[in-house]
Amino acid sequence: MSAMRGEFSSRIGFVLAAAGSAVGLGNIWGFPTQAASNGGAAFLLVYLVLAFSLAYPALMAELIIGRHAHANAVTALKGIAPGPGSRRLGAATGGAGFIVASLILSFYAIVAGWMIAHLLAAMAELAGARATANWLVEFTLPRNVLFMGLFMALTVGIIRGGVSAGIERWSRRLMPTLLVTLVLLVGYVLTLEGAMTGLKIYLLPDFKALLSPQLIISALGAAFFSLSLGVGTMLVYGSYISDRENLPVLGGVVTLVDISIAVMAGFLVLPAMYVALHNGVDIFTAGGALISEDTLIFTVLPALFETMGFTGSLVALVFFFLMTVAALTSSISMLEVPVAYTIESSAISRRRAAAGIGALISLISLAILLNFEFLFGFVVSLTTRYAQPLLGFMYCLFCGWLWHRDSILQELRRGSPDAGNTLFWKLWPGYVRYVCPAIILLIFLHSLLG
Ligand code: PHE
Repeated sequence: MSAMRGEFSSRIGFVLAAAGSAVGLGNIWGFPTQAASNGGAAFLLVYLVLAFSLAYPALMAELIIGRHAHANAVTALKGIAPGPGSRRLGAATGGAGFIVASLILSFYAIVAGWMIAHLLAAMAELAGARATANWLVEFTLPRNVLFMGLFMALTVGIIRGGVSAGIERWSRRLMPTLLVTLVLLVGYVLTLEGAMTGLKIYLLPDFKALLSPQLIISALGAAFFSLSLGVGTMLVYGSYISDRENLPVLGGVVTLVDISIAVMAGFLVLPAMYVALHNGVDIFTAGGALISEDTLIFTVLPALFETMGFTGSLVALVFFFLMTVAALTSSISMLEVPVAYTIESSAISRRRAAAGIGALISLISLAILLNFEFLFGFVVSLTTRYAQPLLGFMYCLFCGWLWHRDSILQELRRGSPDAGNTLFWKLWPGYVRYVCPAIILLIFLHSLLG
């Protein structure tokens, strides 16, 4: 069956694909801006603790279930459920992941479309086509629809190729490109006047902020979003891993790469903000907080690039290229969730499923664009603040309570015969059984009530 389904051809192929899914706009856009508005290094600290203690165990739950079943999330969760009730729960959880992954892609494609538009605007600027550049950066419906559609087409194009010829091949090309681009940009920005002030803000923690529950909720949401958890992406990628691989190690590498890139993006974005301040660009809101999120990326940074003349257009080009690449390696993993389910539960071919589902999700994106004020923020918080942690909770429930412990160990032993004696096996089962579900629920309830 696995030969028919496709499989990552190598360990590094999987690591690059899964890290590609994890590293996305969440890391380069979300993480640094949230750190900026939540106490700098204090946020970084909480994020690191949550990523290792909660997100990594939850990632492992998805990878182990996926690899065990070598199937999509619905089939996989049904397969490990012990009775009819839990089978239904498994199907519902997998199905909810299918919907949430599609909804995440629907807003992600809009934002990624803006990145492509800004990338082309930088090119137009370099070529002296001012009017075109202006049109590309203006927030208009035609521009938004055009670039959302273009980004969706790229995503569909890769997913049509399948696991090794599509996902793996493109992740192998794009991830090293992303890393080199990021390092070059960080190196360059750190040499500019004003960068050191930003660096200090990033690295000196404001411990008062540590006590804020809001910070912990944001950090947990960020960690879950960043590791692509809860929606079945990691489960599906896990289902394409060969039985020979050592899962806890692979999951650990993916977590490390993801966190490192988020932290590194902080070295780019925060110093860049203070370079902008030094160049006369306003970086604070009326309330005195640092400008964050979309205003930062689409107003502050472009204003900064503007103050840098020709070099600025070059840097803008590299920056928005980086964002586009990061978005693409993530969006393919989102689309793979509904595509894997569709081709494994019907007679529809991968190429057709990818195109059809891509078209449907584009329609949702279009609906969001037509009601932007109301729908955009709503879909973002519905999926990332609420659905992702809740579904992560469900995966922990399946791994910690419903699936037999011996079967889990057996699964781990396939790729590492000594799995029973490792530190991972001493800690992880208790973690997914008690610690993760309890903390996720606590934080979730707090965010619901608060
Ligand atoms: N991890 C991606 C990012 O950081 C987003 C993502 C969420 C990808 C859910 C897949 C599934 O941008």
